[in-house]
Amino acid sequence: MSSGVAVTEPATGTRDTDVPALEFDGLTKSFGEHIAVDDLTFSVPRGSICGFLGPNGAGKTTTIGMALGLVPPTSGTARVLGWDVRTHWGHVLQNVGAMVERPAFYPYLSGRMNLEIFARQAGIDDSGRINEIVELVGMGERADAKFGGYSTGMKQRIGIAAAIICDPEVIILDEPTSGLDPAGQREIRHLIRRLSSTGHTVFVSSHILSEIQEVCTDVAIIARGKLVAHGRMDEILAGTDQLLIEVDRPDEARQALTQRSDLESAEIENGWVVVEAPRENSADINRYLVQSGFAVSQLRHREAQLEERFLELTGQPSGSEGEDG
Ligand SMILES: Nc1ncnc2c1ncn2[C@@H]1O[C@H](COP(=O)(O)OP(=O)(O)OP(=O)(O)O)[C@@H](O)[C@H]1O
Ligand SMILES: [Mg+2]
Repeated sequence: MSSGVAVTEPATGTRDTDVPALEFDGLTKSFGEHIAVDDLTFSVPRGSICGFLGPNGAGKTTTIGMALGLVPPTSGTARVLGWDVRTHWGHVLQNVGAMVERPAFYPYLSGRMNLEIFARQAGIDDSGRINEIVELVGMGERADAKFGGYSTGMKQRIGIAAAIICDPEVIILDEPTSGLDPAGQREIRHLIRRLSSTGHTVFVSSHILSEIQEVCTDVAIIARGKLVAHGRMDEILAGTDQLLIEVDRPDEARQALTQRSDLESAEIENGWVVVEAPRENSADINRYLVQSGFAVSQLRHREAQLEERFLELTGQPSGSEGEDG
């Protein structure tokens, strides 16, 4: 089995929980002059739901392609559960299920028959499993209609069904909610949570920032092929020091607050005083206002929205064109 690759090579069947589900190390892909993925280094912890976020053309699908061994990297390494994708592709395929872009199926066969073919190719001959999966992804009775007539939402569902039919430990979904209505998007979020609760790692790319924020435990953000942020969602979102203060006489309160040396800014926003100050100073700011004769009715930190962080980090709107715009 070993082919001279020295580092972090787990034996077949090893379930070392320290090994990340996915690990990218200096991963780079150039198309001619154009560097689509640029020295990407990060890992996806096992058991996490990791969002993979980036504007159009940022390199998400190319990265996923390299993780699956479908796109050869120009340099660097992608590992799945410790296995180098290039040298241990067989192990990778056994442990990863993926839906990338628009999955293709036989148009004249029903969704169910397509899944049966898919399952049989993967060595599964169990109609119970097909029923279970059809149920899980919410295909319902449409499973028995021809794939050719499927709506976008149904195509996404059968794509996900095919990705998870072998019950892989690591599930990679490239924009699974694209083209889905809000109800469909919610179902996919439920599905992702359910997969996670049964021990799967889910790596999911999306443009829908709020969705990533809602469902993911971890996030990696790329722009123009480069990693701009990566970590636990709560840590990425903890980046705001903005304190929102509801107070009587907001203009005067703002004026009074500008006397403090610990404030970077103090502004009025929709009748609230918004100041930027270290988090640990908020109790003191409250005391200061009260002692100065103001009635403070609310004081809280603004929760960073992923969208704001995303704009800060990538310097462009979430849906805008990247390199290929
Ligand atoms: N086969 C290819 N040949 C040449 N350029 C490519 C190829 N595949 C991707 N690219 C380019 O690499 C860059 C990254 O593309 P990629 O599809 O990975 O981005 P993405 O983040 O998935 O974008 P989207 O959000 O639109 O799906 C883009 O500039 C794209 O045009
Ligand atoms: Mg893509």
